[in-house]
Amino acid sequence: MALFQRLGGRDGVEALVEDLAVRVREDPDIGHYFDEVDEVELNRHRTMFFSALLGGTEEYGGRTIRAAHSPFRLTESDFDVFIRLITLTLAGSSASPRDQRSILRALERLRSTVVHASAPEAISRRVV
Ligand code: HEM
Repeated sequence: MALFQRLGGRDGVEALVEDLAVRVREDPDIGHYFDEVDEVELNRHRTMFFSALLGGTEEYGGRTIRAAHSPFRLTESDFDVFIRLITLTLAGSSASPRDQRSILRALERLRSTVVHASAPEAISRRVV
C-alpha cells in the first residue's frame, strides 16, 4: 500500500492538515503570517497539495508554492518552526515512524522554494 493510502487517503491527510493548522496559527513565532488568511481555503489547498505530494491522484489546483509564499519573505527559522510543528503533528498521528520520516523528507525538499520564494527567479509555472 502506498504512503498516501497508509495515511488514510484524502481524509487522513485532511486530518493532519487541520491539526497542523491549529499549531501553526497558535504559534507565537509564525502564527502572525496567517492573520489575514482565509483558513478554510488555505487548508483545502494544503490538503490538495499534500495529497498530491504524498502520492494521491488528485491534482493540486492552488498557486505554486513559490507564488503562495513569496509575499511573506520567509526565513530559514520560520521554516524550522513549521517543520517542528509538522513533526509534532506526525508524532501525535498513527503514521509509522518510517512514514513520518518520509513525509518530513518530502517537505524538507521544499525548503529553498519556500524560503527563497521571493528571489527574482521566483516566477515559475511549476507546482513547486
Ligand atoms: C514545506 C513547507 C510548506 C508547504 C508544503 C506549504 C504549503 C502551502 C500551500 C499548499 C499553500 C496554499 C497555496 C494556495 O493558496 O494556492 C500555502 C499557503 C500559505 N503558506 Fe505555506 N507551506 C509551507 C511552509 C510555510 C511556512 C514555513 C510558512 C510561514 C511560516 C507558510 C505560510 C503560508 C501562508 C501565510 C499561506 C497563505 C498565503 C495566502 O493565502 O495568501 N507556509 N502553503
